[in-house]
Amino acid sequence: MNWTQRNLLDVDSLSRPEMELLLDQAGHMDQFLDRPIKKVPALRGRLVVNIFFEPSTRTRVSFELAQKFLGADVVNWSASTSSTKKGETLRDTAWTLEAMGADAVVIRHGMAGAPWYLKKKLRRASVFNAGDGAHAHPTQALLDVYTLHKNIGPLDGKRVVIIGDVLHSRVVRSNARAFKTMGAEVVLSGPRTLMPEEIAALGVEFQPDPAKAVEGADAVYLLRIQKERQEAGLFPSEDEYHRRFGADRELLAKAGKEAFIMHPGPMNRGVEIASALADGPESLILQQVRSGVAVRMALLFLCLGGEVSE
Ligand code: CP
Repeated sequence: MNWTQRNLLDVDSLSRPEMELLLDQAGHMDQFLDRPIKKVPALRGRLVVNIFFEPSTRTRVSFELAQKFLGADVVNWSASTSSTKKGETLRDTAWTLEAMGADAVVIRHGMAGAPWYLKKKLRRASVFNAGDGAHAHPTQALLDVYTLHKNIGPLDGKRVVIIGDVLHSRVVRSNARAFKTMGAEVVLSGPRTLMPEEIAALGVEFQPDPAKAVEGADAVYLLRIQKERQEAGLFPSEDEYHRRFGADRELLAKAGKEAFIMHPGPMNRGVEIASALADGPESLILQQVRSGVAVRMALLFLCLGGEVSE
């Protein structure tokens, strides 16, 4: 099949064959990461601008590495040191960057829908969503699917249990779709106060008791608990959250089989995940980070139309 996408706003724009093609391409990129010299000139002469309105370590750095490994010219734009501080709108910032020749913009924004707005306003440049509000985080979902597939093979019929703050998570919305697209069964668990009303729209099972949810799990995926949610009274204390919903060896044993542990990061150790699991043999967390570079390389390569010379 031919790749026709030029942007990635969310995973629902990708069919299963497209996702498979992208994951296959990520496998090739993964091999580049083991080479002493990781650079290929696939995107030489292309200008990519990363505009992050929210903090990020993994997504920002891995997008930047992916762009540099593919030979693109990279500009890292920062809200705190830009004319945004003087009141410039997102639209004018985007037009300004495009006028300077940007071929692609990678955007993280606290407002749900910001990447869609940007896509509408830009005339030529591709847009990649690096996380918008509590809405979507498509490259996180793709790197998670890639990582799990790398470890257990095809995801058809596999049980992926996602535990935590579903209500405020952009990761879970994209991940549930991506895992389902690849044939996995997705189960959500966590406090009812942190579950959205539209849970049925995600087409997944909800099991409030994590011990029951993880039975038969192939992967247990923990979501970050945001400390400000405690102030809002959505869960009583971090200790109590950990006792009731946090993942530790005791919970993992309830899977009744070998299950992998995943987390998008950044982690709250001792809250949603015990260090014994985060750093244990079942943990794929650092593999997820590495996959982030390979998957973002594959995405940029396919969407920006580069050619790899071996
Ligand atoms: N998983 C994730 O989006 O992490 P960052 O916020 O560090 O990019």
